[in-house]
Formats: sequence, C-alpha cells, structure tokens
Amino acid sequence: MLVSAKEMLQKAKAGHYAVGQFNINNLEWTKAILTAAQEMNSPVILGVSEGAGKYMTGYKTVVGMVNGMLEEMNITVPVALHLDHGSYEGCKKCIEAGFSSIMYDGSHSPIEENVANTKELVAICNEKGMSLEAEVGAIGGEEDGVIGKGECADPEECKRIADLGVTMLAAGIGNIHGKYPANWEGLSFETLDAIQALTGDMPLVLHGGTGIPEDMIKKAISLGVAKINVNTECQLSFAAATRKYIEEGKDLQGKGFDPRKLLAPGAAAIKATVIEKIELFGSKDKA
Ligand code: 13P
Repeated sequence: MLVSAKEMLQKAKAGHYAVGQFNINNLEWTKAILTAAQEMNSPVILGVSEGAGKYMTGYKTVVGMVNGMLEEMNITVPVALHLDHGSYEGCKKCIEAGFSSIMYDGSHSPIEENVANTKELVAICNEKGMSLEAEVGAIGGEEDGVIGKGECADPEECKRIADLGVTMLAAGIGNIHGKYPANWEGLSFETLDAIQALTGDMPLVLHGGTGIPEDMIKKAISLGVAKINVNTECQLSFAAATRKYIEEGKDLQGKGFDPRKLLAPGAAAIKATVIEKIELFGSKDKA
C-alpha cells in the first residue's frame, strides 16, 4: 500500500540521512526502482512529473500500475507516489487519482499566490493523510537557459511557507535540474544553513540530484536535507546501457530484439544507479 512521505522523511531528518525520490517514466523504470529499494530495505519515493504522467496516459494509469506492482512484487518497504513540480490543477488531479504525496510548485508565482494555494492544499492533504511538498526559490535547469548558478531561496520566505504546515520544503540553494555546467559554483551551504535555522525540523528537499558531488550531498544531508530528487542520472544510465546493447549488435542475435531482452540492460542500469544513491544517501536498512 502506498504511504505518505511524512513519516519516512521525519525519520530521515531525525536520523541524518535522506530518502531518494526517483522519477518514473514507464513500467521498466518503476519495476527497477522498486526492486532496488526492496533489495536495499530502503524507503523510496516514486516521482512523477506532469509530462511523465501525460506520457503514461494519465495519473490513474500510474496509480494502477504502481499499486499493482506493490502487490505482485511483494514490496514491503515504504513507498510514496509523488507528483513532481505539480501545478495547482495537476495537484488536484493526483489527489483524486490516488497519489499518496504531491508537490505544489508555486515558486514561479508571486509569494502571496504561492501562500494561498499552498494553504488550501495543506488542508486537503491533511484531511486525506497525504504529504505535501512546497517550493520556494525556483529551481531552474539547462532548458530554462540557466547557466552557472541556480536561484537561492529567501530563508524568510521559506519559513513563511514551512509554517503553513507543509510536510517537506524544496528550497533553491544554487541547484539546478539536469547536468551541471562546467562553471557551476556548487551548492550554497550558507543559504541552506540559514533556511534550516529558521525552519527547524522541517525535512528539506534537494532537487537536481544528478551530478552533485558526493561530498556536497553528504554536507547537504548534515544541514537538514532529508529528500533528494534524482531523475536525469537514471535516464543517462538507461540510455548508455541500451546504446551498448545495440552497438554490440545484440538485438540482431537470436531473439535479441524481444523488448524484454532489449530493455533489460537499461533497466538493470537504472537499478544499479538507484542502489548507488540509496547507499550514498544513507537510507539503506531504514525501511
Ligand atoms: P535531476 O534530473 O537533475 O536529477 O533532477 C531531478 C529533480 O529534481 C526532479 O524534481
């Protein structure tokens, strides 16, 4: 059964480790991530962007697939199904479809609008036993033309949103989605420290987990990060393993064209990436 991310993240914050959010795109992704989490005896958060939700034909399909896998694969570790960077409308749809967690990304709206929408969603999520992530300080990406440095959130604004009763808070600390450019200045630990000082026990979320050096990940966890999002890195490992299979001509040997064979190396690569992250984040055996 899907669970809210609240308990796993509060435990992570108190225990000084982080739970990974790994984004899913299809059945292979979901199965690989769940297999890794179960093997590592680790809680896990399956992230679904609005684009990935649409790709999988809609949120109801995603809920059906994930619930089916939890049962058929005998998954016993805590699993949350979470909307990643949701719009207000997307959040409403996922609440209805049976997600156990949502992120409302109001970081592009004026702070007053972010506050009003977050407040309304806090009430709904509390009533339904769901977790809610809010964001302050937009986390950009290469596609947004951001180069060098991601935005840093205003700690006072973080406190304001945290005080609305959200479960976890994503704050920009110089991180961005996708690969980091060569001239990236790194995470702003000064900002993170200031945010934690004002938000106390609130589990903080680090987006853009792909490509952040290990020592920075560890330092971020020591300063209150309890959830780390990883997406691009699984896509890169999947693509590299699939490329290798085809370049070696394996799809041309015997029944190597069978999708269950063709997609197997990519799925194994996603699993290996997730296992590596679970070890780095410290959530192994924390189920
Ligand atoms: P990356 O794609 O950089 O790993 O970021 C993932 C993320 O933050 C999803 O919200």
